[in-house]
Amino acid sequence: MFVCMCYGVTDKTIRAAVQDQGVGNMRELRAQLELGSQCGKCIQMAQQIIDQTIVDDSLFKNVG
Ligand code: FES
Repeated sequence: MFVCMCYGVTDKTIRAAVQDQGVGNMRELRAQLELGSQCGKCIQMAQQIIDQTIVDDSLFKNVG
């Protein structure tokens, strides 16, 4: 699914940045990826994906 249409960034790319580069917020994400600086419509969605990925990861770790 595309999160940022302007730059063609997908939810997978954002999840990978959180998991592999330790991205924890929009500022860090934008240091890694080009998104959010055209129309800005994707920022809220991208933030939710960051948060959700962190929550999913910590749940997974607790189970494991
Ligand atoms: S959709 Fe990301 S800047 Fe426009």
